[in-house]
Amino acid sequence: MADTNVTISKGLEGIYIADTKLCKIDGTNGKLWYRGYPIEALADSSNYEEVAFLLLHGHLPTKSEYEIFVKKLVDEREVPDAIEEIVAEFSGRTHPNDILRTCVSVLSSYDTDMEDKSVEANEERAIKLIAKMPTIVAMIGRYRQGKPVIRPLAKLSHTANFLYMLTGREPDKEAAKLIDLMFILHAEHGSNASTFSTLVTGSTLADVYASVVAGISTLRGPLHGGADEAALKMMRAIGEPDNTEKYIEDALAGKQRIMGFGHRVYKAYDPRAKIVYNYLKIFMKKTTDPSVEKLLEIAIRAEKLMEEKLSKTKGIWPNIDFFSGPLYTGIDVPSDLFTPVFASARVVGWCAHLFEYWQNNRLFRPLDNYTGELDVKYVPIDRR
Ligand SMILES: CC(C)(COP(=O)(O)OP(=O)(O)OC[C@H]1O[C@@H](n2cnc3c(N)ncnc32)[C@H](O)[C@@H]1OP(=O)(O)O)[C@@H](O)C(=O)NCCC(=O)NCCS
Repeated sequence: MADTNVTISKGLEGIYIADTKLCKIDGTNGKLWYRGYPIEALADSSNYEEVAFLLLHGHLPTKSEYEIFVKKLVDEREVPDAIEEIVAEFSGRTHPNDILRTCVSVLSSYDTDMEDKSVEANEERAIKLIAKMPTIVAMIGRYRQGKPVIRPLAKLSHTANFLYMLTGREPDKEAAKLIDLMFILHAEHGSNASTFSTLVTGSTLADVYASVVAGISTLRGPLHGGADEAALKMMRAIGEPDNTEKYIEDALAGKQRIMGFGHRVYKAYDPRAKIVYNYLKIFMKKTTDPSVEKLLEIAIRAEKLMEEKLSKTKGIWPNIDFFSGPLYTGIDVPSDLFTPVFASARVVGWCAHLFEYWQNNRLFRPLDNYTGELDVKYVPIDRR
């Protein structure tokens, strides 16, 4: 008999799982802070390396802390040969996020002492993952374009180096700022599905690699990290700006979800979406790429219609994934890399949460409410 006194919180909505000092989201007013710093200030004035240090250590680095941290990241950018063999074998037929997941799993085999679970050893693992994941993603991108792999360039910043390894060109100031911005905005976001997944795995005292693999896997779906790829796919399907309104009306009438809209926590405009939009507008003044201009026009018209239809009535506003597609397109990041790029940025948030959770670890073990039969008589197979 099912227990009638049970209240189920579908999707764990409204359930708190831990205290944290990492990130605060004010979903009603559309505000976000990393370790108390407003996201707007970090987006405008900081860089990914600084934000990664902040998330892992709880304070912005001093000059010498920054230099040591950056050097550690630069020193760890190269990946073992086995990673390229995996990328070469699977890049033609497997989604880049799935290849990244496999490669991160393989990296654990190169850890010289998996038994060392000290804070220092785990932090070194986080640095390895933060440093190597962009190299793997760029390598996947190169293979998918049929182009030779480009080795990391030590003189470039973390994110400029990623774009260089992906495109073969050292990015100009604008492109370098945009990719860095995307990494900062994706670095952390509370106990979202992939971070929660990382924590669930980590709560069993499984290792950092296993926990991050769980995060990468969870990020993949279109309701989470796959939404920007899906949103861009929709904009491309719309094709011409004049088709936008009919496409969106038809989709809503057919009860389809518009990717890049809505959020479990934000019932206001996602502050990250505003930042992406503002930077994109500045960037558009400096570029004349007609395909990006068209995508942005479609996005703006879709947003306007959605505002009339759903935003004000149901609180379904654009989230970060809506304007990301046009922005990434403007800096030559292909759409099938959006999710693994997201993972490469979010890995710092996953690790920071994991380390914070481990300070006061408790195994996650929720309950489910059994609604089936009991004491069913077993019938041998030849009599069924
Ligand atoms: C992110 C998301 C899963 C959060 O949703 P949630 O809190 O679980 O909300 P629900 O799925 O319960 O949806 C609530 C209502 O809003 C509608 N809704 C939510 N997102 C919608 C969207 N993107 N387009 C159209 N309708 C949407 C639902 O259909 C539902 O309507 P109903 O009450 O008439 O049934 C959801 O907004 C979504 O699917 N968005 C698209 C994917 C996306 O952009 N994900 C990235 C998030 S950063």
